[in-house]
Amino acid sequence: MNQDPHQLAGLHPLLAQRASPTAFDPSAAVDDHTLDLLLEAARWAPSAGNSQPWGFLTTRPGEPRHERVTRHLAPSSARWATGAGLLVVTLTRRHVDDSTMTYSEFADYDLGQAVAHLTLQAQALGLAARQFRAFDLDALTEELRPAPGWAIVSMVALGKPAAGPAAPRTRRTIADLRTAPWAPPPQ
Ligand SMILES: Cc1cc2nc3c(=O)[nH]c(=O)nc-3n(C[C@H](O)[C@H](O)[C@H](O)COP(=O)(O)O)c2cc1C
Repeated sequence: MNQDPHQLAGLHPLLAQRASPTAFDPSAAVDDHTLDLLLEAARWAPSAGNSQPWGFLTTRPGEPRHERVTRHLAPSSARWATGAGLLVVTLTRRHVDDSTMTYSEFADYDLGQAVAHLTLQAQALGLAARQFRAFDLDALTEELRPAPGWAIVSMVALGKPAAGPAAPRTRRTIADLRTAPWAPPPQ
């Protein structure tokens, strides 16, 4: 995996080496135990009030609903997501049933954290994940028909990354993370 030469020494290898591949080995299947471990990692994520406002639809190549998901991929993601050993559609529970009442103010935040846990568990298992939004959300929602209150947010392609050169990864600096949110002090 690629390493940013400016990366601070001491970052945990799972974090330092995680990257989102754009090619997966289509011959590397994700078995049932691995799938359970990935969802187990998501299950133990923290959430506001322990509301756990996340849901997942998983599918692997050859399974009946795989094509029902992949047919809604954008051309950009279809190039690499179709060959991934596992596709996960992520859902958040934003509302209480059919009402406009917020189920949790932090629903999307909590889902993101659960997915972060899932991606790090994948990394620990020698797999890699690429989260993505390049799919037809309306068509996929129509296809899968989540229950009232639930909304599809993203997808995650997971599997063994295909060999090949890794794309360079860049990040804002720690100083910018600290300063960017604040207006300059008044003169
Ligand atoms: C919510 C979300 C949506 C994303 N959507 C896409 C996408 O539609 N297509 C894509 O190629 N990558 C997508 N990505 C992957 C990001 O581009 C990638 O995480 C980012 O460039 C940083 O690279 P890294 O994960 O290798 O550190 C998405 C990531 C997240 C978290």
